[in-house]
Amino acid sequence: MKHVLSCEQYTRESLEELYNLADDIANNPEKYKNVLADKIIATMFFEPSTRTRLSFETAILKLGAKLISTENAASNSSSRKGESIEDTINVVQQYADAIVMRHSDDHAAEKAAKIAKVPILNAGSGKGEHPTQALLDVYTIRKHKGKIDGLKVAILGDLMYGRTIHSLIKLLSLYNNIEIYGLSKKEFALPGKYVDMLNERKVKYTVCHSFDDIPTDVDVMYHTRIQSERFEGDFGKEEFIINKEVLNNFSKDTLVLHPLPRLEEISTDIDDDPRALYFEQAANGVPIRMSLFLKAFEIK
Ligand code: NCD
Repeated sequence: MKHVLSCEQYTRESLEELYNLADDIANNPEKYKNVLADKIIATMFFEPSTRTRLSFETAILKLGAKLISTENAASNSSSRKGESIEDTINVVQQYADAIVMRHSDDHAAEKAAKIAKVPILNAGSGKGEHPTQALLDVYTIRKHKGKIDGLKVAILGDLMYGRTIHSLIKLLSLYNNIEIYGLSKKEFALPGKYVDMLNERKVKYTVCHSFDDIPTDVDVMYHTRIQSERFEGDFGKEEFIINKEVLNNFSKDTLVLHPLPRLEEISTDIDDDPRALYFEQAANGVPIRMSLFLKAFEIK
């Protein structure tokens, strides 16, 4: 059994294996239709979700497994009554063969895994990590660029509280000659511990103050929503918005990604641009999460 807790657990080799499996699943769905027919999988979301929960649940159903779920675990499960993460996991694992969990605690996945006898799949833990999102983000980039080594990637929006950003830069740091450009309001700058991690891993990190500081041939611009639910106070709206006019200053090969949901940070006027990949990203969540279940149960 294998948990999915953090992007720290991956290597270039394990990513390559996962992505080849996701490609095979996407190309031969029939082959995988019943592989988890004997499994029951639980999804426990203590925070709101659309894509992550529904793509996990689609993955579960496409593999022939059965699903038990609390859609709004923060108010509808016993955590509302004060039950600890550990106790909840201890109970749910009496019923389910794997548990997919999203929680506001930055260390929820590790706490769960410590006592779990079934695979735990982290579907987002506080402002810490969102490994399955980063796995599908890098898969999407790899599909379009054919490689990750040597890419220039701009990260935008909420670099402080955005767990998708924290997980993404960990995966990118596994590759060679990566350059990362950070553009955010100063309140949402990348925390020092992540800048240090990038330095240690020889990833060049450049703090940008406007779109002009991002090279026009940047390979990827990855925008994110300000995570207003994670801090007190009001720091206003996103200042750096990708719209048609902004995107026209970048290369015809600059991909635009976003984990969604978006607020104002990406204008709908670029949705039809072939460089805008955020809806394709959401679709790629299914083969990636199907692959993760097969790995979790050590079927592949
Ligand atoms: C993100 C999340 O929940 O961290 N969304 C997602 O899972 N696709 C990003 C966000 O909520 O802004």
